[in-house]
Amino acid sequence: MNGWTLITGASEGLGVEFARIAAREGRNLILTARSEDKLNALADELRDSAGEVVVIPADLNQLSEADRLWQAASEARDIDILVNNAGLGSHGDFADGQNWTRELTSINVNITALSLLMKRAIPHMQGHGGGRIMNVASVAGFTPGPNMAVYHATKAYVLSLSEAVAEELRGGAVTVTAVCPGATATAFFDAADMHGIGLLKLRKPMTARGVAETGWAATLKSRRVVVTGLMNKLFALSPRFSPRWLTTFVAGKIMGK
Ligand SMILES: NC(=O)c1ccc[n+]([C@@H]2O[C@H](COP(=O)([O-])OP(=O)(O)OC[C@H]3O[C@@H](n4cnc5c(N)ncnc54)[C@H](OP(=O)(O)O)[C@@H]3O)[C@@H](O)[C@H]2O)c1
Repeated sequence: MNGWTLITGASEGLGVEFARIAAREGRNLILTARSEDKLNALADELRDSAGEVVVIPADLNQLSEADRLWQAASEARDIDILVNNAGLGSHGDFADGQNWTRELTSINVNITALSLLMKRAIPHMQGHGGGRIMNVASVAGFTPGPNMAVYHATKAYVLSLSEAVAEELRGGAVTVTAVCPGATATAFFDAADMHGIGLLKLRKPMTARGVAETGWAATLKSRRVVVTGLMNKLFALSPRFSPRWLTTFVAGKIMGK
């Protein structure tokens, strides 16, 4: 594979690390997020190692922007890896009306834009000899999440969609991988106002580099689902061994402040 790799959410955190890994492999990169200055700085850093690097800023809160991004990215380019990584969360009570704007944005970015990019990417990749789609879900996708109810629900959607479409595509040249990190040291927690939650007191977040390396390797191997880290694997398995009310209760405790 030596086509183009499109990475969403490439201005921060995991997206930057995915871009560094892809650059190390000499791939051609399309970097997108809203923060054009950060994307340009990353592009400058990567140009020595990567093939070509193109920056296309886009606000994935708008469906039309996701569509424009795909058109601009894929015109005259063979995209063979899509990293659907952009995402955000919102902490607090679902009943608190003040959270709605950010919750709605997380639905638009985590679900709607991700789905559209995937829907555009599949026929494009099938027409160009194949490809890999990585959807960044979360261990949050395995359980309901009181105090982050909408975020957990968006990631359950990403996980379910990824596995279902991977099955539809079975045996073909395009594969879909759901990458499910647990707590990872990025700007995510600041952005979602999550400092002081139980989860962050329980254990140190994994490094963004380590999580990205695991997710990237699993995607190239066409694995369907990868959960990063042993504790996160155990957490993801817990709904199989305990009643749903108990899993939801525990998730609420560790997501609470
Ligand atoms: N950190 C964790 O503990 C953790 C755990 C599990 C899963 N995840 C998932 O991992 C993915 C990456 O998160 P991260 O931890 O790297 O978080 P991050 O450091 O906050 O980065 C989020 C990225 O998403 C982009 N983004 C946010 N809103 C956007 C919008 N409206 N339009 C376009 N891009 C937007 C941001 O870019 P701009 O602000 O420049 O637009 C940024 O590049 C997310 O899907 C997240 O849900 C994270």
